[in-house]
Order: sequence, then C-alpha cells, then structure tokens
Amino acid sequence: MERTFVMVKPDGVKRGLIGAILQRYEQKGLKLVAAKLVNVSRELAEEHYREHFSKPFFNELIEYITSGPVFAMVLEGENAIKLVRLLNGATKVEEALPGTIRGDFATSTTYNLVHASDSPESARREIKLWFPEL
Ligand code: CMP
Repeated sequence: MERTFVMVKPDGVKRGLIGAILQRYEQKGLKLVAAKLVNVSRELAEEHYREHFSKPFFNELIEYITSGPVFAMVLEGENAIKLVRLLNGATKVEEALPGTIRGDFATSTTYNLVHASDSPESARREIKLWFPEL
C-alpha cells in the first residue's frame, strides 16, 4: 500500500468541486486516510513549493495557493501516487485529456484545481508537512 498527498486548490474549493474530485479518487478504489480544509500561510506555501522557488511563476503560484482555503488529503492504495496523477491529468491545461480532472474542469495551467505528490520522496515530505500527526 502506498500513500500520497493530494490537495484541491483554492479554485476547486471556490467552484464547489471538492465532492466531484474526491469521488473520482474513491471510484478508482483509493481510500481517504486524512483530510482537512486549510487556510494556507505564506510560509507553508513556500515550503510546499520550494522546488519551484526559482521558476518565473513562483510568486503567482504562492499568491494563488494562499488566496483561499485548500482541501488537503492523504489517499492510500496500490500505486496511489501514479494513479492520482493519471486521474488528475497533465499539468499543462492544453495537454490535459478529457476524462481527467484537469481535462474536464481546469481552464488554466496555473489554476489547475489539484496538486498531487509526484514521487515516493515528495509524498513522504508533503504528508509530513501537511499532516505531521500521521
Ligand atoms: P502543481 O502540480 O501543484 O505543481 C506546481 C504548480 O505550479 C502547478 O501545479 C501549477 O499550478 C503551477 N505551474 C506549473 N507550471 C506553470 C506555468 N508554466 N505557469 C504557471 N504556473 C505553473
């Protein structure tokens, strides 16, 4: 069994898509282990996205992720990390296929509704950062 960190970003929460998004993960057989609504501090946002610090979109990304509550969760299942990323779809909006969460609901690469850990190392780091009690 593998665990992954996933969040519905502020645009997803504002648009009332938490239920629709969570349903996709649950329908695929992934189990919700922990979840909470979080008002993200600048400090948490910068730590979470530290690998993007030098990217031109870093400031925009931090402004976005701190603009309203996010729905943070830990999902568990076989190959959870890979499965969630498949269900999310490509990061770039023009590459996200219909049938994926981003392909069906997102209209922009920045405002792309969901985040999910991209490797076992980032899953460990992100779960510890967002859910230290686990
Ligand atoms: P996420 O999967 O959370 O990881 C990094 C985030 O940065 C990404 O989703 C997008 O929200 C954002 N992002 C990635 N690439 C770009 C880009 N080229 N321009 C603007 N934002 C981006």
